[in-house]
Amino acid sequence: MENSPGSVERPAETDPRFALMDHAMGYLFSAALRAAAALGVADHLSTGPRPVAELAEAVGADPLNLHRMLRLLATRGIFVEDDEGRFALTPAAELLRGDVPGSFRSAVLMLTDKTFWQPAGELEEAVRTGTSPFERLFGMPFFDHFARDADTAAVFHVGMAEMSDPENPLVAWAYDFPASATVVDLGGGHGGLLLAVLREHPGLRGVLFEQPHVLQKHRLGELGADDRWELVPGDFFTGAPPGDVYLIKRILHDWDDEQCVRILRHCRRAVSDHGRVLVVDAVIPPGNDPDPGKVIDLLMMSSLTGRERTRAEFDALFTAAGFRLTGVIPTGTRLSIVEGIPVT
Ligand SMILES: C[S@@+](CC[C@H](N)C(=O)[O-])C[C@H]1O[C@@H](n2cnc3c(N)ncnc32)[C@H](O)[C@@H]1O
Repeated sequence: MENSPGSVERPAETDPRFALMDHAMGYLFSAALRAAAALGVADHLSTGPRPVAELAEAVGADPLNLHRMLRLLATRGIFVEDDEGRFALTPAAELLRGDVPGSFRSAVLMLTDKTFWQPAGELEEAVRTGTSPFERLFGMPFFDHFARDADTAAVFHVGMAEMSDPENPLVAWAYDFPASATVVDLGGGHGGLLLAVLREHPGLRGVLFEQPHVLQKHRLGELGADDRWELVPGDFFTGAPPGDVYLIKRILHDWDDEQCVRILRHCRRAVSDHGRVLVVDAVIPPGNDPDPGKVIDLLMMSSLTGRERTRAEFDALFTAAGFRLTGVIPTGTRLSIVEGIPVT
């Protein structure tokens, strides 16, 4: 028999209204995570567990509210409270420290920054109109906002580099690169992916193509005396430097189809005869299963003009730009490599 609202015939926790309630308040976990990262709580636990009162004093917080924030985070394995009421780091909380290898603090602050948070709150507008509310809220397009000054730029580009760090070696390893070639990392940020590719493949040379202000913070110097790289400042809507392999990681998802075709056409003009493009992005699978690409897709909807795409949608972009899609290669990350070769 169907239960009517208020019926007690079915155990309460299977009532879908409880699930809806939880979904409706899901943003509070993100808010708590952001607050913990911003307060630097994890940095103050590096020497071991501490009582909340002591921790509150160290980070300059209200002890009661700090405890309420941490006990929510602890429900998902970020910090843990012991029997004596002290909080300690967990493996995930450890990565909220700013000073550890693999730190993810800047990535969390970027993903929860007002530039994503506020437009996401206006998602209804994006769905109704088909356009992002970003420019209405911030007065300029996304990447112009992050070019305003060095501190604003760092919020996105340092966070983006941290977000990409765990992916880059796996992407570099997943693809069977030619033994010798020039690899252009188009919109390569601070160069983390190119760094991983050059480390993994000693016969390759690399070009980091980016906006000039982003190149200023590049990391290719980490290769030391190995000088198989160069920096090329530029705009991928007006051209691309010559090369054999184009890495285009988390670029096309920022832009609409027409903008993507413009970017790819510049690659088509610049690519060598036996070259290829490697688009590294989420590839949305059919069906109802959860997929991280379906989540980040809504950031693209609310703050940018782009979207995450299916294989068929990448195929259409490639065809329009003079490439043939030759394969989708899994990388062991949430991203795949969509390979295209020039049509002659
Ligand atoms: C989402 S980030 C991806 C960065 C990097 N590929 C990665 O996966 O970590 C997009 C990048 O595109 C760059 N970008 C945006 N507009 C550009 C343009 N017109 N020309 C060149 N690069 C641009 C940004 O500076 C940013 O680094």
